[in-house]
Amino acid sequence: MVTSWAVTLLIFAAGAIFLADMLSGKRVPGPTGVDQTAKRKSSHVDIVLNQNVDYLKSTGFEKYEFVHNALPEIDFDKIDTSVGLFSHKFSAPIIVSSMTGGFKRAGQINAALAEFCSEKSIGMGVGSQRQALSNEDYIDTFKVVRRVAKDIFVMGNIGAAQVVSGFALENARRIVDMVEADALAVHLNALQELIQPEGDRNFRGVLAGISRLVRAIKIPVIIKETGAGIGADAARKLIDAGVSAIDVSGAGGTSWAAIEMLRREEDGRRVGRKFWNWGIPTAEALVRVNAIPTRKKIKLISSGGIRDGIDVAKSIALGADLCAAAQPFLKALDEDGVNGLVREFDAWMEELKGVMFLTGSRDLKQLRKAKLEKVAA
Ligand SMILES: Cc1cc2nc3c(=O)[nH]c(=O)nc-3n(C[C@H](O)[C@H](O)[C@H](O)COP(=O)(O)O)c2cc1C
Repeated sequence: MVTSWAVTLLIFAAGAIFLADMLSGKRVPGPTGVDQTAKRKSSHVDIVLNQNVDYLKSTGFEKYEFVHNALPEIDFDKIDTSVGLFSHKFSAPIIVSSMTGGFKRAGQINAALAEFCSEKSIGMGVGSQRQALSNEDYIDTFKVVRRVAKDIFVMGNIGAAQVVSGFALENARRIVDMVEADALAVHLNALQELIQPEGDRNFRGVLAGISRLVRAIKIPVIIKETGAGIGADAARKLIDAGVSAIDVSGAGGTSWAAIEMLRREEDGRRVGRKFWNWGIPTAEALVRVNAIPTRKKIKLISSGGIRDGIDVAKSIALGADLCAAAQPFLKALDEDGVNGLVREFDAWMEELKGVMFLTGSRDLKQLRKAKLEKVAA
């Protein structure tokens, strides 16, 4: 009799603790939900590393060529690639794009990326932090970034589908505090959500949610796509909503329709295959957004298929303030750790400076004005 009372009491206490955890946001209802997310995040990294998920169409940068300057009148060794973003100074106009967090290996990836960014004085983004709001076990895979790199520019990350009505602004603050973020990136990923079997297809209220977020948090809000591009109409609305930066993240690099398609069984792949190439090519998105009369109110970031220093140079000459890239850095890290990242970055710098030398651009301000001609592709 005493034993059965003790057991009942124990079950009741465990239930109360679980309920309290749930209400305080440390757990999500459904014991497998978060682990499923961890599995999905891990499979995204595996698919990007092991399969071809590139767009079959290009970024459009090949349609532009710099006009060679036979009389550059500058010293290669004095070329300055530094740039400012909000209150940070970068050695080069490069950000390691938002990628990961939320499973064990993601913590190791984020630590290595942070070490590299610190060594090179550039910025980095973490992947979506939504999962860490639901389960404290995953927080450290994000927090590690700050342990490794105290002073770099770090972007927090949350998805568009999460900022619609009902999103507690308190959660945005938790995300920001988790990585002591210098800016919060909100990713627009309608294409991914469309193809993902468990995708969230309700994007009603996203713009209003972004607008609320901008007013509620103290740090800059950056809106980024995830490879399908931001066009002029969307960008105009985002600028009016008060965002501080837009990362066009256009088509020509990693295709999220491809990644989500490859997570499905063969007989569920038809729609993903049809949308593999959906999106606004990066160069086109840049030109369109840069032409908006209110463009100067924001910082403009070029990403989606940036694969070398020449893409970086063309982005700057087409109006970008900075560039970002995801897949090339993930692959370089996978191949040879932090050394691989450093080698890739140094090659990009050699190429960027090469363009600056051959166009007579001493710094990025001058590169912005360098002559770039549209050629028949
Ligand atoms: C493995 C992987 C995971 C990603 N996860 C996120 C994410 O959580 N949040 C986000 O905003 N973008 C995410 N992205 C998208 C990138 O930030 C970027 O916008 C896109 O991959 C295009 O750049 P790329 O062609 O250089 O890869 C991810 C990209 C990769 C490769």
